[in-house]
Amino acid sequence: MKIYVDTADIEEIKTAFAWGIVDGVTTNPSLIKKAVKKYKKGLKEYIKEILKIAGKTPVSLEIISVKEKEMYEQAVTLYEMFSTKENNIVIKIPINIAEDKEDTTHYDALKVINKLAKKKIPVNCTLIMTPEQSLLAAKAGASYVSPFAGRIDDDLRKRAGREFEKTDYHEADGIMIEDVLVHDKGIVSGVDLVEQTQHMLRTYKYNTQVIAASVRNARQVRELALIGADIATIPFSVLNEMIHHHKTFEGLKAFTNDIVPEYEKLFE
Ligand code: E4P
Repeated sequence: MKIYVDTADIEEIKTAFAWGIVDGVTTNPSLIKKAVKKYKKGLKEYIKEILKIAGKTPVSLEIISVKEKEMYEQAVTLYEMFSTKENNIVIKIPINIAEDKEDTTHYDALKVINKLAKKKIPVNCTLIMTPEQSLLAAKAGASYVSPFAGRIDDDLRKRAGREFEKTDYHEADGIMIEDVLVHDKGIVSGVDLVEQTQHMLRTYKYNTQVIAASVRNARQVRELALIGADIATIPFSVLNEMIHHHKTFEGLKAFTNDIVPEYEKLFE
């Protein structure tokens, strides 16, 4: 499974790349807001720094409009502003949904994705909550789709009337309440959303890669790897959690306490 780091924090990106485990970066407006607050740099220079660290691995940058013309223009602007031979920019386009069912003007994401695909600008279609949204995005020409596993889990736990922390583990096979499986139109968990999405795209041999997004904890990463997710985009805190185990910590402490002086001398 490829691992992307889901952050716009430059120090986190640097550290994760230095570990040699990162295949790409995903950002969104909320992650950029957090990073810019912390580092207080001009955004253009800041993004260029991220791109330099990421090299040729894909870095997703999101547009901010929901209207067709602006969406397309913003995508082209972002791409032209930052794309060079030394990097690999991917434009993130939310699969948008009209609040009002009569309003079809806000269903333009697919049209924009299609236009960008024809212009050979790679797209990561984001805010995906159902496999069928992914199917449409793939048909329109998206290079990546990002199903939001964690946000689906949050929603299912809420529907089940559960109190939870966002970092809690959510069962990959769903939650049973009084013998009834809580689901969202047949989706029983975030991992299930990713699995169904990937199965659907592979059945019809789309080249679109699935990025499991909105990842909440290490166990969810394991389950994503076990179902064969193409890519998981993982927050830095979850990468840390993946490394940690209390018995590893305890074991290391015991080994350190047992180091005899002769052993230390070997390294002098
Ligand atoms: C990445 O592409 C998504 O924007 C990100 O994973 C969303 O995560 P969140 O649900 O924790 O905000």
